[in-house]
Amino acid sequence: MSSPRVVLAYSGGLDTSVAIPWLKERGFEVIALTVHVGQPVDLQAVRKKALASGARRAYIVDAREEFARDYLLPAIAANAIYEGVYPLSTALARPLIGKHLVAVARKEGATHIAHGCTGKGNDQVRFDLSTTALAPELKVIAPAREWGMTRDEEIAYAAAHNVPVIAKKSSPYSTDENLWGRSVECGVLEDPAIEPPEEVYDWTQSPLTAPDDPEHVRIGFEHGAPTHLNGVRMGLRAIIEQLNRTAGKHGVGRIDHLESRLVGIKSREVYECPAATVLLAAHQALEALVLPRDLLDFKHVGELRYSQLIYDGLWYTPLRTAIDAFVASTQERVTGEVAMKLYKGSSRVSGRTSPYALYRHDLATYSEGDRFNASSAEGFIYVWGLPSRTWAAVGEQKSRPATATVPRQRRTSR
Ligand code: ARG
Repeated sequence: MSSPRVVLAYSGGLDTSVAIPWLKERGFEVIALTVHVGQPVDLQAVRKKALASGARRAYIVDAREEFARDYLLPAIAANAIYEGVYPLSTALARPLIGKHLVAVARKEGATHIAHGCTGKGNDQVRFDLSTTALAPELKVIAPAREWGMTRDEEIAYAAAHNVPVIAKKSSPYSTDENLWGRSVECGVLEDPAIEPPEEVYDWTQSPLTAPDDPEHVRIGFEHGAPTHLNGVRMGLRAIIEQLNRTAGKHGVGRIDHLESRLVGIKSREVYECPAATVLLAAHQALEALVLPRDLLDFKHVGELRYSQLIYDGLWYTPLRTAIDAFVASTQERVTGEVAMKLYKGSSRVSGRTSPYALYRHDLATYSEGDRFNASSAEGFIYVWGLPSRTWAAVGEQKSRPATATVPRQRRTSR
């Protein structure tokens, strides 16, 4: 009888490399899968390492375009930001990797998928739930959740099982990278009272050494989607890649967060999300220009819920598709251009234009050409204030029972 197959989400790091012999010892044939979501690593080297560590086959899938189109675009439209600061870079890539794990599992006739997450984080939830939702028949194994090895024990295990040793001196930090950002945890970051040392950053300049001159970038949007950078039409992935470099150079996108994990733990997380920081701020600025107040308010409620469900691993749910449909319907007029000023760690909106702008100079101006009918404001305020006036009058009457009559409304001149 042939051994059961497992498809392993393989990063090339220590955990997933050790997972290969560990799974083989438990009778599995291991198929490695590395999904390219924009992490700056040599994927051919990763593939070779998977095979050298004992994988039967090793797949590399370039999913960068798909990540930008199907995951980041809806996240931009929904201004998806967790706890007000985190653009969900790691969280958004997990369901996409999960989808490709399932696809390869079906192609290979695998019965299991596996990932390298520990039992303390959010990512295990995201992988497990993506698999459950897309392929309930597949079982999930998370070796690092089960094996209980320390890092040193893992290194010893790797040596004993001919897993190629990690050449570079291992960093005290745990990192995760994709187009939308870079996450860093562990090491000295575990003390939230201490400022992150400069060495944790890789994508961003320190604002101290960033260029002395500000730089303006113009982001063009069509129906909520970024389509132009400085007037040049570009695909979303290319816009993100270029903005990560440009905004990163100005020290934009550093985030130091005390985060509420789904599993109940508070943890200190550092992120570098230069492109996401710029694009989300620009998108919100354009929405402020073209959407009415009630829609902005109501959309915000959906945005909070959407950000939470992405964080919580609920991408493949009817709630997510329903919010996506609502958000898409709000983006019809989100077309225009926003200028952002990048300067020593900050990115600020410096201007916005749109053919659908609700801003009208002849209504807003205090100068020549004012067409707002200010005299109608008085009548509006009379009606708007009616509930407050009635409430106050009734209260006054209660505290002075001698006055039997309801005070007359003051007549306003019309
Ligand atoms: N806390 C973040 C999240 O849950 C990022 C986790 C990143 N993982 C890592 N190995 N640093 O989305």
